[in-house]
Amino acid sequence: MLDDKDRIFRNLYGLEDWRLEGAKARGAWDGTKKLVEKGPEWIIDEVKASGLRGRGGAGFPTGLKWSFMPKPGGPRPHYLVVNADESEPGTCKDREIMRHDPHLLIEGCLYAGLAMNAHVAYIYVRGEFIRERERLQAAIDEAYAAKLIGKNNRFGWDFDVFVHHGAGAYICGEETALLESLEGKKGQPRLKPPFPANVGLYGAPTTVNNVESIAVVPDILRRGATWFAGLGRPNNTGTKLFCISGHVNNPCTVEEEMGVSLRELIDRHAGGVRGGWDNLLAVIPGGSSVPCLPSPACQSLHMDFDSLSALKSGLGTAAVIVMDQSTDIIRAIARLAYFYKHESCGQCTPCREGTGWMWRVLERMARGEAQKGEIDMLLDVTYQVEGHTICALGDAAAWPIQGLIRHFRHVIEERIDDHQARTSGTDAVRSAAE
Ligand SMILES: Cc1cc2nc3c(=O)[nH]c(=O)nc-3n(C[C@H](O)[C@H](O)[C@H](O)COP(=O)(O)O)c2cc1C
Ligand code: SF4
Repeated sequence: MLDDKDRIFRNLYGLEDWRLEGAKARGAWDGTKKLVEKGPEWIIDEVKASGLRGRGGAGFPTGLKWSFMPKPGGPRPHYLVVNADESEPGTCKDREIMRHDPHLLIEGCLYAGLAMNAHVAYIYVRGEFIRERERLQAAIDEAYAAKLIGKNNRFGWDFDVFVHHGAGAYICGEETALLESLEGKKGQPRLKPPFPANVGLYGAPTTVNNVESIAVVPDILRRGATWFAGLGRPNNTGTKLFCISGHVNNPCTVEEEMGVSLRELIDRHAGGVRGGWDNLLAVIPGGSSVPCLPSPACQSLHMDFDSLSALKSGLGTAAVIVMDQSTDIIRAIARLAYFYKHESCGQCTPCREGTGWMWRVLERMARGEAQKGEIDMLLDVTYQVEGHTICALGDAAAWPIQGLIRHFRHVIEERIDDHQARTSGTDAVRSAAE
C-alpha cells in the first residue's frame, strides 16, 4: 500500500482547504523560485528521469514528449494545453484534482510552460464539469493575485493560464479535436502528421497533456526524479490515481503505487467485490475503451501499462470497472458500443459506419438473434476499424468487442443456442439477413 508520505494528492477527498493557503500548507508552491531558476533543460531531464508516462490513456513518456517541442527562438509562440475533458466512461480522477487540489495543476502548468518555452496555458475542461471549472478559475484567480502566475510574477517566467470549457463531446478529449474546439471550430480530430509539437494550437507548437500528468510534476521536481522512479515498477513508475466503479462495495478514486495488484486495490480501497471474489465475472481495467479481462486473469494482476498490455488489455485511464456474475456481459459491451457510435465524429468511414454496424450486431447478439458465423464476422470488422481511422476512437470502439469475443465467445454462443432452441431458428435467420 502506498505510504502516506509518498502521496501527491493529499486532499483527494476534499477534506481539507483547497484554496491557496491550504495548498501551501500541503507543500504546493514551495521552493518554486529555486526550481524555476534551474531552467527548462533541468526540468525536462528530471521529468524524463522520473519515468512519468502520460496519464491521459496512452502512457507516452511525458519528458520525451516535452523534448519534441522546437527550441526557443522561432517566430511562433509555444502553447501548453491541458486536457481536462475527462469523458472516458469510468474515469473520475481529473475532476478530483480540479476541485480539491487545483493549485497542484496550476503550479505544474508553470513548470511545464517554462520547460517548453510556453508563456500561455489553456486548460480545456469538460463541459459538464461546471463546479470544477468554477473552482479551478477561483484557484487561478488566487494565483494571479498572489503573483504566482501572470506578467511579472514572483518567479520571473511570465505565464498566463486560461480556462476554456467544452460543450460535452467525448471526441473533444482527443488532443487534435480539442485544439480544433479551442480554436472555436467543430471538434473533429486532425490528420497527423503534422503533430501538435510542430503545428498545434493556431498553427503554433503545442503540447497537450492530461491533468494528472501535469499535476504530479511539482512533486517530481520538489522530491526528485529518483523518488518518483523508485515507486511502482520498472518502466511503470510513480503513483497513480485509480477510479474503481461497478460491482464493488465502496466505489472510489484512490492514489496508489503504479503496479499495485488489482486484488489489493479492490479489497483494500473499494471494500471488495460485491458478493466476494468468487462472484467476479470480469474487469475492464482502464476505462471503457480497453478490452475486459475475465475473473481468472484478475486474480494476480498488476495494474500498470506493461502488465496489462501483455494481457492484450491496457491501463488506459486506470478506471477499473468491476462486473460481477449478475452482469450480462454482451449487453454491457453493446452499451459501450452504443456510446462509441454516438460519439463518433463521422469523419472517417470505418468509424462512422463501423461503430453503428458493430453496435447493431451486438444488440442482436445480446438477444441471441444472430448466427454463430457472425461472431467471427464481427471480430473481423473490429480489425477493419482498428488502425484504419484518423483518431483512436475507432480503436476504442473495436477493443471492448475484441475483449468480449476473446474471453466470452462461449456466452455469445450459448445465447444464440438458447434463442434458437426457443424459436426453432426462424428469427435468427431473418435477423442475419437484415
Ligand atoms: C477519443 C479520445 C478521447 C480522449 N479523451 C481524453 C480525455 O478526456 N482526457 C485526456 O487527458 N486524454 C484523452 N485522450 C488522449 C489525448 O488524445 C492525449 O493523448 C492526452 O491528452 C495526452 O496527455 P498525456 O500525454 O499527458 O497522457 C483521448 C483520446 C481519444 C482518441
Ligand atoms: S475515428 Fe471516428 S471519431 Fe476519430 S476522426 Fe474518425 S470518425 Fe471521427
